[in-house]
Amino acid sequence: MKATFKRTLAIAIPAAITAALASGAAQARDPFDKEALDKQNAQLLELVELGYNLWHGSNPEMSSNGLACGNCHPDAGASNPQTFPKYIQNMNRVVQWGEMVNWCVQNPQAGKALALESKDMTAMYAYAMNLHRGLPIQPGLAAQQTKPIPVKYGKGFPSKPSGIGFDTK
Ligand code: HEC
Repeated sequence: MKATFKRTLAIAIPAAITAALASGAAQARDPFDKEALDKQNAQLLELVELGYNLWHGSNPEMSSNGLACGNCHPDAGASNPQTFPKYIQNMNRVVQWGEMVNWCVQNPQAGKALALESKDMTAMYAYAMNLHRGLPIQPGLAAQQTKPIPVKYGKGFPSKPSGIGFDTK
């Protein structure tokens, strides 16, 4: 039964491709028109804006100590999405950027991790990637990590922010 199914597919797929090529349809789909592109772009920009808001503390679940990403990573600085996936010492494995976002949510911010497939996480990607537009994609590049930012509070640290709270040296 299984073998027959496989054999049928093996014949049907090349036949479909040959038919598509013969009819002149060399592309998998028609190019998007301007209206479709504008719509897609507007959706993306909406997510960039949501990401900006989340980065600056709009989701209270992401922080229990008043800290937001923007306190330590202004303008998404030192978040380096273009260098992921890469090895992160704290987790002792190669991780995707979203996992590092969650590490910061749970540690310096003592908050609740975002689901990797959530709209909020997609918005975090949209915002950070938008600010890194044009940089070369260099997965694994540890050298692009800017100076570590000393964490002064969060899990294992006094829970209330005290003034500026971190120094950049
Ligand atoms: C109190 C300061 C602080 C806050 C707040 C903070 N981070 Fe971080 N972040 C750090 C430090 C310190 C590191 C370096 C940790 C390491 O390398 O193990 C880091 C590393 C990262 C990295 C990895 C960068 C790289 O190139 O390895 C990402 C991504 C990141 N943070 C995103 C975020 C996001 C998103 C938020 C908000 C949800 C956030 N951080 C909040 C201090 C902070």
